[in-house]
Amino acid sequence: MQNEVTKPEFCSALAQLASGVSIITTALHGQMRGITATAVNSVTADPPTVLVCTNSSTGTSKMIADAGWFAVNFLAAGQRSVSDVFAGMGGLQGDDRFGFGDWETSGPNRLPLLTGALAQLECEVEKMVKSGTHDVYFGHVRSVKVSPGEPLIYHGGNYLPHAPFVDKNRETVGVRTMSG
Ligand SMILES: Cc1cc2nc3c(=O)[nH]c(=O)nc-3n(C[C@H](O)[C@H](O)[C@H](O)COP(=O)(O)O)c2cc1C
Repeated sequence: MQNEVTKPEFCSALAQLASGVSIITTALHGQMRGITATAVNSVTADPPTVLVCTNSSTGTSKMIADAGWFAVNFLAAGQRSVSDVFAGMGGLQGDDRFGFGDWETSGPNRLPLLTGALAQLECEVEKMVKSGTHDVYFGHVRSVKVSPGEPLIYHGGNYLPHAPFVDKNRETVGVRTMSG
């Protein structure tokens, strides 16, 4: 039998996976919750489905279970500071995090949507699967709003400050800042 991969080995390997950064939000009884997350993926377009993996210990994960709905906000390159707030840096918790960033609520479920995000998806929970420390929510996407822009990317434990860009012939021609 092969040796078990250790947690540091696993984390160092997965840190090499560049990911777009999202904020997953939910709301119930006038309360809102949200966390920064990279564990967000498309599942299928038919029916339109995404999955998100949320630590079971977070208030967000618990509230999604009760509310049955969540939203996913794909962050733009300029939204790094709001990403930090929803990752718990700076110590803001619960509703207080929504004092940071430009938030509006949508629909009967009052899901918090971030103005300026590249996409806002409103999702109804189809099913949840527990895996270790995390809850994996499959969401039926009930509404989308898309805005053009550059994404916020996380890699190697840091936000990517620069992205190579390519010309029309798909050759790398340089590096520009994400905001430039
Ligand atoms: C770049 C980045 C990606 C993250 N991705 C996830 C994720 O996919 N799922 C998750 O549960 N937590 C993720 N986290 C951690 C949560 O954002 C953090 O634990 C959360 O804000 C804690 O919320 P709480 O104070 O309500 O427990 C990520 C953090 C960062 C900085």
